[in-house]
Amino acid sequence: MPKRCLVTGCAGFIGSHLAERLIQLGHTVVGIDNFSDFYPRAVKEDNLAWLKGQPAFTFVEGDLAQMDLAPWLEGVEWAFHQAAQAGVRSSWGNDFAIYTQSNVLATQRLLEAAKGSPTLQAFIYASSSSVYGDAERYPTREDFLPQPISPYGVTKLAGEHLCRLYARAYGVPAVSLRYFTVYGPRQRPDMAFHRFIRAMLANAPLIIYGDGMQTRDFTFVGDIVEANLLAAGRGRPGEVYNIGGGSRVTVRQVIALLEEIIGRPARVEFAPAQKGDVLHTAADISKAARELGYQPKYSLREGLAQEVAWLEGRLASQRDQLGRA
Ligand code: NAD
Ligand code: UGA
Repeated sequence: MPKRCLVTGCAGFIGSHLAERLIQLGHTVVGIDNFSDFYPRAVKEDNLAWLKGQPAFTFVEGDLAQMDLAPWLEGVEWAFHQAAQAGVRSSWGNDFAIYTQSNVLATQRLLEAAKGSPTLQAFIYASSSSVYGDAERYPTREDFLPQPISPYGVTKLAGEHLCRLYARAYGVPAVSLRYFTVYGPRQRPDMAFHRFIRAMLANAPLIIYGDGMQTRDFTFVGDIVEANLLAAGRGRPGEVYNIGGGSRVTVRQVIALLEEIIGRPARVEFAPAQKGDVLHTAADISKAARELGYQPKYSLREGLAQEVAWLEGRLASQRDQLGRA
């Protein structure tokens, strides 16, 4: 049955992929985004290019922390709340105000607008592995104590708590998915793989923070999209699910794999480990497997090759545009 969907953050990396998949499956989508200046608007406009040509897609430019949300929730059956101020390392200092606005206040306002909706069947919140901080054990289960070590992680955990309490108090069908470091085409320009690939294609130095032995349970964006669809159908309101990629590797191993895919050695420089970065992440996904039927499908090699191809294409079209100018 086609659903009426809301996707917040739909001009971003994950939101744009999710909105595209929903449209391809025959659903209708209202997408909201404020084109926050964390990275250039032109990149987000590119993310929206295909969607904007689809009759089943409506785009609304607006800030969730300020706009009137009620009209955009009317008739919505599935809401996917992907909008946030992302980025772990940039969440210190004065910019924290943006994190509280876009991650805490915006989530609370959306939940307020969603409560009492007669049509809403699922409200999926994009949470983050950063809520665990340096976790007590690996792989980490959802019931381990979350102790974020970045201001960003604190705001994402606050969003989760808001989802749980609106589920409990008002029956909002809110489900939190803890994504583990997501990559693939359209990955944000501040993230490691994007920066590594861009540097390697330009034969420029890339920077490893710390010794490169930190590990992440990297997750391909296609698996994240699938997890959202599964959670909309089968997620239990008020619950939290880990969504990992099943390939926990060191940053050094990623660079070695990129050298194979791109066919050129990386020029590596080292910088001190960054405040707020956890040393390791590893998702125990047994709850998501059991309750949602989630299983990651993309290998790291396959997903990295897709991200390399996407960035090569982007850089080539930028060169073409410069050549014509
Ligand atoms: P992104 O920055 O590419 O996308 C987020 C989008 O939200 C942006 O287009 C931005 O303009 C929009 N936005 C921000 N504040 C807004 C506001 N107040 N009102 C309306 N729109 C707003 O980031 P992403 O990597 O696609 O992340 C999507 C979600 O997934 C975020 O909630 C993030 O915290 C979460 N997440 C991402 C990762 C990852 O590795 N990328 C991992 C864990 C969790
Ligand atoms: C990512 C996202 O950016 C967050 O929004 C998200 O919430 C988080 O995943 C999560 O899983 O919860 P992060 O793990 O820091 O955060 O992702 P990357 O930017 O891809 O960094 C991965 C690792 O590479 C980190 O250890 C980082 O220190 C390192 N790195 C990053 C470098 O060594 N060099 C760089 O240039 C960039």
